[in-house]
Amino acid sequence: MSGSSPGTLPLGTNPAGAGSQQEASRWVRSMFGRVAHRYDFANHLLSANIDRYWRRRTVRRVREILRRPAARVLDLACGTGDLLVALEREAGRSLIGSDFCHPMLTGARSKLARERLSSTLIESDALALPFADSGLDLVTIAFGYRNLTDYRTGLIEMRRVLRPGGALAILEFTQPPNRAFASVYNWYSRHILPLVGGIVSGAREAYEYLPESVRKFPGAPELAALMQNAGFATVDWEYLTFGIVALHVGRVAVD
Ligand SMILES: C[S@@+](CC[C@H](N)C(=O)[O-])C[C@H]1O[C@@H](n2cnc3c(N)ncnc32)[C@H](O)[C@@H]1O
Repeated sequence: MSGSSPGTLPLGTNPAGAGSQQEASRWVRSMFGRVAHRYDFANHLLSANIDRYWRRRTVRRVREILRRPAARVLDLACGTGDLLVALEREAGRSLIGSDFCHPMLTGARSKLARERLSSTLIESDALALPFADSGLDLVTIAFGYRNLTDYRTGLIEMRRVLRPGGALAILEFTQPPNRAFASVYNWYSRHILPLVGGIVSGAREAYEYLPESVRKFPGAPELAALMQNAGFATVDWEYLTFGIVALHVGRVAVD
């Protein structure tokens, strides 16, 4: 990751109090480390299980690539592995998951073992992927992209490792487009989410960071433009669940 100083931070997440990109990255990794043991429970509770539908929908959107017999697939920022499990089940073979937070990967390792799945897990930073150029057919990232400290570098890395004809799927929280719904949802995410998330995980700051990071995150059309600028030939996106989240799929041109 390149160095940065206050005032020259790239467009990316910037938790309160972090003065540099390195500090922001450390803050994010340590925050996920603190909530890892309760992450799945809190997720399903706070989303009333709708997160399972969002991941299923993501799998469906990339099913055609998953079913290619030799397709190489990376689930980036895989966390405790919920999307990775769904992807491996659909593909019927071993994939790759990566994340830079060790306790989240420990959760993923247990989950894969419990489900008798065999995907490989790698501890690495999404901003410096340990993969050769043009070696993968599909990269997915669910609720991880918003947490990167440099959105453009993240997209360029994801584009770099994809081969012609490959695709990137980003599932991420966004700002609901309907103002009335957005104001109810924003009230929920500013008041209920930190309260319940704090009680369940013991780390209230993680659930205060969440709505704040969504508020600062580019809207769905802006994210599509960022993806195009990073070299994705086509980008399709859709809102899910009244626009609480958006699913973007960017495709790399076939040579
Ligand atoms: C909200 S969790 C999402 C986990 C999982 N994808 C899911 O759908 O439940 C975000 C994950 O992104 C990871 N993450 C954030 N920044 C990262 C980075 N720069 N490199 C790798 N992983 C990162 C965190 O460690 C965390 O596990």
